Amino acid sequence: MSPASDQPPILSLRGFKVHFPVAEGSLFRHRVGVVRAVDGVSLDIAPGETLGLVGESGCGKSTLGRGILQLFEHGVARMSGEVRYAGQDLVRLGRTRRGLRRMRPLRKDLQIIFQDPYASLNPRMNVGAIVGEPLKIHGLERGAEAVARVHELLEVVGLSPAMAKRYPHEFSGGQRQRIGIARALAVRPRFIVCDEPISALDVSIQAQVMNLMMDLQERFHLTYLFIAHDLAAVKHISDRIAVMYLGEIVELAAADTVYDEPLHPYTRALISAVPVPDPTSAAGAKRIRLEGEVPSPLAPPTGCRFHTRCPVAEPRCKVEAPTLREVAPGHRVACHLVSARSEGP
Ligand SMILES: Nc1ncnc2c1ncn2[C@@H]1O[C@H](COP(=O)(O)OP(=O)(O)O)[C@@H](O)[C@H]1O
Ligand code: SF4
Ligand SMILES: [Mg+2]
Repeated sequence: MSPASDQPPILSLRGFKVHFPVAEGSLFRHRVGVVRAVDGVSLDIAPGETLGLVGESGCGKSTLGRGILQLFEHGVARMSGEVRYAGQDLVRLGRTRRGLRRMRPLRKDLQIIFQDPYASLNPRMNVGAIVGEPLKIHGLERGAEAVARVHELLEVVGLSPAMAKRYPHEFSGGQRQRIGIARALAVRPRFIVCDEPISALDVSIQAQVMNLMMDLQERFHLTYLFIAHDLAAVKHISDRIAVMYLGEIVELAAADTVYDEPLHPYTRALISAVPVPDPTSAAGAKRIRLEGEVPSPLAPPTGCRFHTRCPVAEPRCKVEAPTLREVAPGHRVACHLVSARSEGP
């Protein structure tokens, strides 16, 4: 967990968008709109760091993670902006056949661990085949070498090599997540999107899997984008935290700063949703309730997208969209009030 922030970023996003065109009609399908799931995200991820990504369900976290990895099939999503990795713009490469060929060797560096390890593991394949499949796809170890590598991977994630012959349904949720992790590690990645990897697990095993992921990060010098819907879940593992609302990043800072001195009203509301032990404490007294649901990304609110739920919204918030700006070193916030305050006396 020691990010080398003086080194160039491993990934750079600039104005990155992932839109889903929605069509209706069974015979003549016509476009009825565009789901703006990710709508202009710019951030850098430092080698070796864990960047936490939080926000309510539907805010676009998974789409951002999958979009970075170019996991959407052709035609499903429209992507624009830049995702720079290893000197290449993955968004641009993803547009042409030739680009896709050039992206192939880069793909194995960038892996994902899913929330529901059961749904993401093929029930008809045994664990050895599941963990070894990426080796095949990327033309790496074969035959006896592949078997040895699979056994080594199972040990690395705390399972026994003898389990290679068993099937996903024979394992507990925590063990299945370990299988998913082994599979992601098979190709020796550098960057892993961890999409709510512990949300579906029993509370009693969440810490075990979290600790395993932190150990693996150190051992293999991994960089994580760690997605969660609640801040408490990522505070411990993250170096920095990005808060996402309706397709946009609204606050980004060191994990402690986001947790202890949040500036964006949305972040404050998310933190107020975390139970505080002492109800008479300042945090308890200032509890902000998040009313209503996240508006539809098919028609996001004008101006600041949070204005329909913001407890301190002003008239201009309805018309003017705030930009994500640095209000203190390394602390970026997108809110009219916060930028005004930082410019004040
Ligand atoms: N393939 C898709 N087609 C259309 N809309 C999608 C698709 N995938 C996700 N969405 C929509 O994009 C928005 C963001 O979803 P998602 O990235 O899953 O959010 P989160 O992970 O933060 O819960 C949601 O409104 C969701 O319904
Ligand atoms: S810009 Fe306005 S509506 Fe948006 S978070 Fe700030 S105060 Fe609230
Ligand atoms: Mg999600």
